Amino acid sequence: MAVITVTKSLLPILAIVLLFSTTVNAQGLVVGFYNSTCPNTETIIRNEVIDILRKARTLAGPLLRMFFHDCFVNGCDGSVLLNGTKTDPAERDSIPNLSLRGFSAIDKVKAKLEAACPRTVSCADIIAVVARDVVVLTKGPTWDVPTGRRDGNRSVSNDALANLPPPFISAQQALNQFYIPKGLNAKDQLVLSGGHTLGNSHCSSFNDRLYDFNKTKKADPRIDKFYRKKLEAKCKPNDQTTLVEMDPGSFLTFDNGYFKQLAKRRSLFFSDDTLMLDPVNRAYIKRQAMDGADTTEFFNDFAASMIKMGNIGVLTGTQGEIRKHCALVNKRG
Ligand SMILES: *[C@@H]1O[C@H](CO)[C@@H](O)[C@H](O)[C@H]1NC(C)=O
Ligand SMILES: *[C@@H]1O[C@H](CO)[C@@H](O)[C@H](O)[C@H]1NC(C)=O
Ligand SMILES: *[C@@H]1O[C@H](CO)[C@@H](O)[C@H](O)[C@H]1NC(C)=O
Ligand SMILES: *[C@@H]1O[C@H](CO)[C@@H](O)[C@H](O)[C@H]1NC(C)=O
Ligand SMILES: *[C@@H]1O[C@H](CO)[C@@H](O)[C@H](O)[C@H]1NC(C)=O
Repeated sequence: MAVITVTKSLLPILAIVLLFSTTVNAQGLVVGFYNSTCPNTETIIRNEVIDILRKARTLAGPLLRMFFHDCFVNGCDGSVLLNGTKTDPAERDSIPNLSLRGFSAIDKVKAKLEAACPRTVSCADIIAVVARDVVVLTKGPTWDVPTGRRDGNRSVSNDALANLPPPFISAQQALNQFYIPKGLNAKDQLVLSGGHTLGNSHCSSFNDRLYDFNKTKKADPRIDKFYRKKLEAKCKPNDQTTLVEMDPGSFLTFDNGYFKQLAKRRSLFFSDDTLMLDPVNRAYIKRQAMDGADTTEFFNDFAASMIKMGNIGVLTGTQGEIRKHCALVNKRG
């Protein structure tokens, strides 16, 4: 770094430039949004997440996935947490919600924050910070989470179906239909898929690859055949309940294990497996999959893409509201 001598007259200008250039991003989010209004926000959240994972380690994957789900459907506005009604199902009642768990964990975090600073911290920000914390606590990377999101009031089951990439389409289709329209690129898609290093999947998300791939009544020829036999033993046709680890052996640790599986053709989803068809992706995956691979590149990339994803369709300023209860839109008046 160059040493710069500044004259007195330039100092105020420099201070202003620094103030604005270091913090506010294009969407109006800022690291430390609650510094003055609720200074312990991130400490309170971290301590709750430690407690939640101590009691239920397997919630790490679902809590990370919740952020993805929230951001992809109507933007990162906490709407994934809203309860539906019998006649009006919400996002969380949609088919892709099957893998979502941890709603009561978020409610617990919110209750602690309401006790400390009523009506101050949005549910959307809680999801974003919780996602970062589960990654840190499972030995993954850390990053500063820009905050200042406000909560939306629309949560519709069909929005989830229309906005979340289904596991049975190719990576290329998922990129074109779901990622690019949200401002995310192929690199974001690849590294965010790396989040599958945490958590489980239902057999129903990939059973077609075992029993009726592309309506052929046969298995997907791309799956490693030893892995396929293992999966067939676990997942019977039409199985709706059994869970399978997405990164077998280390599904509770954020690491490069997912890329190792992917490189060996041992991933569960067609949308993940076909990432390998793209030469740039393939080179990245192989680099990450090497024994003793340095995870720095993936960890830095993952953090950058999480921040980018966290900007999708956010409400800021006077838009939306700060919900009192994450499952319910505030009462009017
Ligand atoms: C909040 O405090 C942190 C740590 O001192 C700082 O990095 C961040 O820029 C601050 N943010 C705001 C908006 O004041
Ligand atoms: C939201 O729905 C869940 C599941 O149906 C229920 O357990 C919970 O009490 C509801 N929350 C509120 C605040 O109504
Ligand atoms: C997911 O949606 C189904 C209905 O499609 C509902 O029965 C279930 O309770 C929802 N799961 C969660 C965790 O909200
Ligand atoms: C939901 O939000 C929109 C836009 O902010 C607002 O116009 C509408 O009145 C809100 N609806 C409810 C029920 O709060
Ligand atoms: C699925 O089958 C169709 C029609 O037979 C074929 O054009 C297509 O390439 C197949 N897709 C895959 C992924 O094998």
